[in-house]
Amino acid sequence: MVSFKNILATAATLFSLASSQQFYIQNWGNGEKATNYTYKSLEGGRFTLDWILGAGGNFVSGKGYRGNKNLVVNYTANYNPQGNSYLALYGFTSNPRVEFYVVEAFAEHNPSDNTGHTFFGYHNSDGAQYELWSKYNGDLRQYWSVRRTNRRGGTITFANHYNAWVAAGLPMGGLGNTYIVVEGQQGRGNADITVGVRPTGTIKETPTPTTRSQVCVTPTQTLGPICRPKKVKKEEVQFKA
Ligand SMILES: *[C@@H]1O[C@H](CO)[C@@H](O)[C@H](O)[C@H]1NC(C)=O
Ligand SMILES: *[C@@H]1O[C@H](CO)[C@@H](O)[C@H](O)[C@H]1NC(C)=O
Repeated sequence: MVSFKNILATAATLFSLASSQQFYIQNWGNGEKATNYTYKSLEGGRFTLDWILGAGGNFVSGKGYRGNKNLVVNYTANYNPQGNSYLALYGFTSNPRVEFYVVEAFAEHNPSDNTGHTFFGYHNSDGAQYELWSKYNGDLRQYWSVRRTNRRGGTITFANHYNAWVAAGLPMGGLGNTYIVVEGQQGRGNADITVGVRPTGTIKETPTPTTRSQVCVTPTQTLGPICRPKKVKKEEVQFKA
């Protein structure tokens, strides 16, 4: 027998699904290695994350919108990571299959410090310069647009990154949903993020750290394959990017 109370509860669930449906949820973890992270979807574009992950652990979780080249994404982020973690606008395209990141902040590991990444120049967007990097392993292309000053909150004009990748010779395919995410690997942290809301007041920016020592990376506007990073020592390459 279906009780009236159950019907009410079902209606409430449907209503809350409907009211949060303007945002899409992204929540991926790599199985048993990522058991200790907690993703909570709150009202509207807000979500929280808490994590402590060991070697090999990995999650990519957040909220976002239906893919659209002209997305202008506001977000507010209280983001406190240690170890290897990124705060990014993130998504995939199909044909070609591309995983892309507009990296706004990270803990201690700049994705471009990994071996096998090619530098594709700079472009400007939303008050800062971003570095373009890519890695292609023969199956999946990864594109990075890494802000040269880390920030936690603001506005991301996605078309600027999209157009810069294409102008640099990095093709984009059909856009899937596009999210503000936190990626966490080995390390710990917490985050409280609201997609769709820009912080009020001044947004603090700090120089983006890097461990690479690459002479060809100078702040020019040139776009196109420019150079590969020097091979870094094996022990520095402990993270998947
Ligand atoms: C799992 O993570 C939470 C917070 O993120 C932490 O309080 C807890 O101690 C962790 N558990 C283990 C087994 O590491
Ligand atoms: C982003 O925030 C700005 C400033 O508050 C606002 O003018 C704009 O409409 C917002 N855009 C979106 C897409 O939320």
